[in-house]
Amino acid sequence: MAGKEKAVMKVLDTETAQGFIRMSEDGWHQGWHECHGGNLTYRMKKREADNLREDFRKDAPWLTLPVRLKSIAGEFFMVTGSGKFMRNMALDPADSFGIIELNEEGSAYRIVWGLENMGKPTSELPAHLMNQEVKKLVTEGRHRVVYHAHPANIIALSFLLPLRDEIFTRELWEIMPECAMTFPGGIGVLPWMIPGTKEIAQRSCELMKEYDVVVWAQHGLFVSGDSFDHAFGLMHTVEKAADIYLKTISVPGRERLIPSAQELREMATRFRLKLPEKFLYNKDCI
Ligand code: 13P
Ligand code: ZN
Repeated sequence: MAGKEKAVMKVLDTETAQGFIRMSEDGWHQGWHECHGGNLTYRMKKREADNLREDFRKDAPWLTLPVRLKSIAGEFFMVTGSGKFMRNMALDPADSFGIIELNEEGSAYRIVWGLENMGKPTSELPAHLMNQEVKKLVTEGRHRVVYHAHPANIIALSFLLPLRDEIFTRELWEIMPECAMTFPGGIGVLPWMIPGTKEIAQRSCELMKEYDVVVWAQHGLFVSGDSFDHAFGLMHTVEKAADIYLKTISVPGRERLIPSAQELREMATRFRLKLPEKFLYNKDCI
């Protein structure tokens, strides 16, 4: 406005930062973030980053990434800090998370806000950024949130079920209709791998081309969504289904009453879901 100074927008006053903090806290309250377990990233909209430029540091050093991420080069991300507790996110946000900027080549990043006290981005940064790039490409820019947590029941299930996409998807779809509605594309499964590596990042990328959710066996769950609500809801639905699954198999001497593949197909028709046939196999044959 002419004659008036343009107000400097502060990161913590934005709806996005508040949504980021709320999601972290909600995950903590669900029991998914013991100690510093789990991490969250959000790919900011250009307008969101532009509005905050005056609140950003300009002199931070560039730090090299282990890969070149051309399709998200120059973009800004909210990222949780390595070793930071989701439990403290609301109490001390500027210490617990930060905003990073990728350079124009997509080969390095710098911290432009937050992560005070010498903090650095999550150790799973390769998995987050590489999958942010994959999901940006396969969803034509819709997906912006990548979330990793350690929910107890899906971890427990990864000690019990064969580590195959078809098995996890089908067993969870059978638990409640919400599952097929929330993850109609299915679930990917990775074996146990060393956390924070380029390898777990790469293997997740292969699966995230097809799925929005990947089980990291004996470790946790990795999901992507277009909003905080959808990413959180996906994590929550998978974990709740795993909880019910474990409860039902823990009752001795009772056969489980399971909906058939045909019933799942009929539900898919009714709700216009495209459930891939590879998950609707005949269970009598395996
Ligand atoms: P960070 O504290 O580095 O985010 O690591 C937590 C985690 O869950 C690693 O998989
Ligand atoms: Zn983890």
